[in-house]
Amino acid sequence: MLNAFNNNKKGWLSMLMGNCNFNGEIRNNVSYEDFSKVMKSFTYAPLFEEWSSKKMLKEYESNRTIDSFIFGYYLENGECVAVAAIRPFTPGEHPVDYPEDSKTMYLSDIATLPAYRNHGIATDLCTTCIKQAKEMDYSRIYLTTIEKKSSMFYNIAKKCGFKTISDLCQEVNVPRTRPYANTNKLYIFMSKEL
Ligand SMILES: CC(C)(COP(=O)(O)OP(=O)(O)OC[C@H]1O[C@@H](n2cnc3c(N)ncnc32)[C@H](O)[C@@H]1OP(=O)(O)O)[C@@H](O)C(=O)NCCC(=O)NCCS
Repeated sequence: MLNAFNNNKKGWLSMLMGNCNFNGEIRNNVSYEDFSKVMKSFTYAPLFEEWSSKKMLKEYESNRTIDSFIFGYYLENGECVAVAAIRPFTPGEHPVDYPEDSKTMYLSDIATLPAYRNHGIATDLCTTCIKQAKEMDYSRIYLTTIEKKSSMFYNIAKKCGFKTISDLCQEVNVPRTRPYANTNKLYIFMSKEL
């Protein structure tokens, strides 16, 4: 059983919500159970990504290093319905070209359970990630999403001030949950100066 608390964090953290329609709160100590439940969203459209337990646990742990955060949106009844994570840039992980000491943060793993979408939750989580990176004196935050025409996150990122890094894309080939889903997808990169 994994510890529900990030051991490098200060415990519970509640934030006042921005424009979201629910009376929930954002917390930064998301358990593995809550993280994996919401991340199952990636097994459906538009990504159809396969997430084995091993891969899920690896992703969770990669977001629990120093300066990393997993934020969850919790309803009043305690249910976690959305997540987003930030972790420091790892040289070589993506085809972005930043110096190792550039204080760059990577935003990843943003998902909202289908029943709670289009109420502003992901936008609030995105804003929280940006605010947290800024408070830690990071100077840039970047993310990757699938090409604009199929991405569900592109417009949210744009609204939050991310700009597409022109000419930078990456073809990613991962197993998909649907036989008809193309295993190759084109990912674009977006960044925001803080
Ligand atoms: C992307 C996602 C996290 C958004 O969560 P959310 O809580 O519904 O987001 P918000 O309510 O803050 O924002 C709603 C916005 O999502 C975008 N959106 C919603 N459905 C969409 C769709 N089918 N296609 C493209 N964009 C869509 C729109 O920009 C919408 O804003 P608008 O109504 O003003 O156009 C959610 O749809 C999701 O979990 N999708 C599956 C996982 C995923 O693709 N994650 C992003 C990986 S990069």
